[in-house]
Amino acid sequence: MSQKLFSPATLGKLTLQNHIVMAPMTRSRATVDHIPTPIIAEYYAQRASAGLIITEDTSPSPNGEGYARIPGLYNADQVNGWKPVTKAVHEKGSKIFAQLMHTGRIGHLANLTNGGEVVAPSATAASGQMYTDTEGMQDHPTPRALTTDEVKAVIQEFVIAAQNAIEAGFDGVELHGANGYLIEQFLNPSSNQRTDEFGSSVENRSRFVLETAEAVGKAIGFEKTGIRLSPYGANGDMHPYDEIDETYTHLAKQLNELGLVYIHLVDHSAMGAPTVPSHIVETIRNAFNGTLILSGGYDADRAEVDLDNNKGDLIAFGRPFISNPDLVERFKTGAELNQPDFNTFYTPGEKGYTDYPTLQNDRSATIDENTVAEN
Ligand SMILES: Cc1cc2nc3c(=O)[nH]c(=O)nc-3n(C[C@H](O)[C@H](O)[C@H](O)COP(=O)(O)O)c2cc1C
Repeated sequence: MSQKLFSPATLGKLTLQNHIVMAPMTRSRATVDHIPTPIIAEYYAQRASAGLIITEDTSPSPNGEGYARIPGLYNADQVNGWKPVTKAVHEKGSKIFAQLMHTGRIGHLANLTNGGEVVAPSATAASGQMYTDTEGMQDHPTPRALTTDEVKAVIQEFVIAAQNAIEAGFDGVELHGANGYLIEQFLNPSSNQRTDEFGSSVENRSRFVLETAEAVGKAIGFEKTGIRLSPYGANGDMHPYDEIDETYTHLAKQLNELGLVYIHLVDHSAMGAPTVPSHIVETIRNAFNGTLILSGGYDADRAEVDLDNNKGDLIAFGRPFISNPDLVERFKTGAELNQPDFNTFYTPGEKGYTDYPTLQNDRSATIDENTVAEN
């Protein structure tokens, strides 16, 4: 029986009710104008027995909302749309961070409904296609390369979005430095061929994320600023490169100097991505004194083992949370898990979103059936 997983945890100045984190997951239930809808509050409130919820990716900019119906945090309607979400989650005893993600080159004009433009470190398109509501599947476009001044302006967009997150009631923000989006596009030389101070060397490719982390931390507090990283990840047409270990070693050291509250590591090998070499996880663990969140393919038993062995401090669960709103109770009781319906991951509406059964629903249904049978 797992023990540490269910005991309270500390994250910066916060006390979490357990060591279980709900991983960030895009569910595309915002409006076409990227404003959070009331069912988003219901969805997260249903899952608020987690110690910490990290929201789906949320754009700091009209240029960063490259997927259909993902929410933003750069205008007043979006801030107001998030307020019921944070309130509902807090009322259930959980904490919630907003994942700030700029899609960069992984976007399409058809999805940038607030007048955005597809921009990136360099004018290099990712291979592959993406979904749009109005034009179906489309090739990734060739982005426009940001000027040096524009890169600095994007950093300010992250700062304003982080301040908006605090105004909306979030406990903090997670910078999405993983999975091939804008931050990782700067880190990886295959998507960053810049010759200014944001390109070329390890220090220069890391500058965008480190300056963003520093500026956001100064604006809202470093104890409220976390980051997600995916060394050796393949999402978004990312590929390993010569100085990859040096890059992540440099990042871990610098993020530690800044005092970010956590690093959240992605491992998508359970989803068919390359395995993350253990040496890079250990390097990050040793260089970074803040909280380390591990994620990817976890069940309760493996989570407990990794917590006991001090491999990480908190464990994030993704897909199991989609289909099990009461995942924590199911873990505690050893109950069977519902399987997620992949067809409704990104579709609008309640189906496959807020209608997964809980153990409590099942019990009430059984009581109802018995009552009917007795009548
Ligand atoms: C439907 C879906 C949407 C996702 N969206 C995001 C996202 O917005 N941001 C992110 O960092 N990761 C995203 N992920 C990755 C998850 O956070 C997590 O890393 C992944 O599902 C592996 O964990 P698991 O094996 O527990 O599901 C998504 C995964 C799924 C299944």
